[in-house]
Amino acid sequence: MEPIKILTKDIDVEGMHTLEVYEKHGGYQSLKKLKDKKPEEIIEMVKASGLRGRGGAGFPAGLKWSFLAKDVFPRYLCCNADESEPGTCKDRLLLEKNPHLLIEGMIGCAYACLIGTGYIYYRGEFQHASDLMDRALKEAYDKGYLGKNIMGLDFDFDIHTHLGAGAYICGEESALLNSLEGRRGEPRLKPPFPAVEGLYSKPTVINNVETLCVVPYIINEGPEKYAAIGTEKSKGTKLISVSGHVKKPGNYEVPLGTPTREIIYDYAGGIRNDNKLKAFIPGGSSVPMLPAELVDTPYDYEALAAAGSMLGSGALIVMDDTVNVVEATLRLASFYKHESCGKCTPCREGTRWMWQLLKGIHEGEGANEQVEKLVDICDNISFKSFCPLGDAAVGPVASSIKYFRSDYDLLLKTSSASGAA
Ligand SMILES: Cc1cc2nc3c(=O)[nH]c(=O)nc-3n(C[C@H](O)[C@H](O)[C@H](O)COP(=O)(O)O)c2cc1C
Ligand code: SF4
Repeated sequence: MEPIKILTKDIDVEGMHTLEVYEKHGGYQSLKKLKDKKPEEIIEMVKASGLRGRGGAGFPAGLKWSFLAKDVFPRYLCCNADESEPGTCKDRLLLEKNPHLLIEGMIGCAYACLIGTGYIYYRGEFQHASDLMDRALKEAYDKGYLGKNIMGLDFDFDIHTHLGAGAYICGEESALLNSLEGRRGEPRLKPPFPAVEGLYSKPTVINNVETLCVVPYIINEGPEKYAAIGTEKSKGTKLISVSGHVKKPGNYEVPLGTPTREIIYDYAGGIRNDNKLKAFIPGGSSVPMLPAELVDTPYDYEALAAAGSMLGSGALIVMDDTVNVVEATLRLASFYKHESCGKCTPCREGTRWMWQLLKGIHEGEGANEQVEKLVDICDNISFKSFCPLGDAAVGPVASSIKYFRSDYDLLLKTSSASGAA
C-alpha cells in the first residue's frame, strides 16, 4: 500500500519541535477552525472519522468523548504518555520530534469536551521528552495557544506535565489516575469509568499520545478524508514500532489494513541475514504471538483479532528462526512478574509461577507435566485478574505453547526430569 503520512509528515524536518518551524509547516491551523465550530460538532467529526484509541484497546475516540458525564465540571484531560509496553516506542517519537502536534491535539479535544485542565503523564524515563515538551508548552503559552481565551474564544485551557516513576501498570488508565493524584499506582475498580468518575472523581478523558496527535488532521482535513484511509472498521494510519530481527527496525506509519508481511519485508527491510521468519508479536508484548504462516494477516484491529492476536499498541516484534521461543517467552514472563502491581492474587502469584516454570524448562529441568501446569496457570490468570495486566501476562505464554510446543519439547527431551516423568 502507498505510504500515507499524517503523524510523521514533517517529523524529520530540522527543528520541528520548535513553534517557529511547526507553524511554518501548518501548525496550529486547526485552532482557527474551532472559531466556526461548536464543541459538539468537533466530537461528531472525531466520531465520523472512525478514529480508535491507539493506546491498546482500540476504543472509538469520539464515542469516549461523548460519554463524559453531562453537566459535571470541572472535567479533565489526561494524555497517556506512559508507553511502557515492551517493543513500543512510537509515542516517544511524537513527543520528542513533534511536541506541538500533541499540544494542538489536546487543545482540540479540550475544546470539544469543555475541559479546562489537561495533564501529560509520562513514563518515568521520558525526561528528555518532558524537557522538550516544557519548552514547547512555554512557546504555546507565550503565543496565546494555551491559557485564557484561546484564539479569542470563551475557552481557557492549561496543560500540566507529570513524570511517573517508571511502572508499567501506571499506563493502565485508572492506575494512571491514582498515580496523578499522588496515590499508589494501582488500578481502580471499573465501573465507574473515568468518563464518569476520573481524576479527582470528576469526568475525565484519557487518550494515548498518538490518538490525540490525529485530532488536528481530522479538524483541518475533515473526518471523511481520514475515514477514507484504512479498512471498513479500522480507519486511518497507524504508527508501528517494528523491532527485533529486521534489517531496519524503526517506527513506520502505515494505513491500517496493510499486510503484516509488507510491514516486515518492505518497510522494515526484511529479516536480518535473510533468515527465515519464525514468529511475530503484532501489537506489543501483551498480545499473543503468531507463527510465520500468518504473516499475510492484514494489520488491522479485526484481522489480527480473527488471527487470534491483537493490534494492541502497534509494536510489531519480529523473531527469526534462530530464536528459541521458550527463551523469548521467559524474557517476557520476567517482565510481567516484575511489573505485576501485586493487588490481586491471580496475577501476583500466577506471574511468578509462570516465570519459575518457564525458567526451569529453559534450564533443562522441566518435565512434560510442567508445560501442562503452565497452561493451567494461564487459565487461572485469564479473566480472573483485577485488571488486564494479568491477561497481558498470559498472552505470550499461552500462544508460545500453542504454536511452538516443539521448542518446549526440545528442551524437555534433553531434560533428565522429563525422562523421569
Ligand atoms: C497494563 C496496561 C498498561 C497500559 N499502558 C498504556 C500506555 O503506556 N499508554 C497508553 O496510551 N495506554 C496504555 N494502556 C491502555 C490505557 O489503559 C487506556 O486504554 C488508553 O490510554 C486509552 O487511550 P486511547 O483510547 O487513546 O487508546 C495500558 C493498559 C494496561 C492494562
Ligand atoms: S492484574 Fe496484576 S497488575 Fe492488575 S491489579 Fe492484579 S496484580 Fe495488579
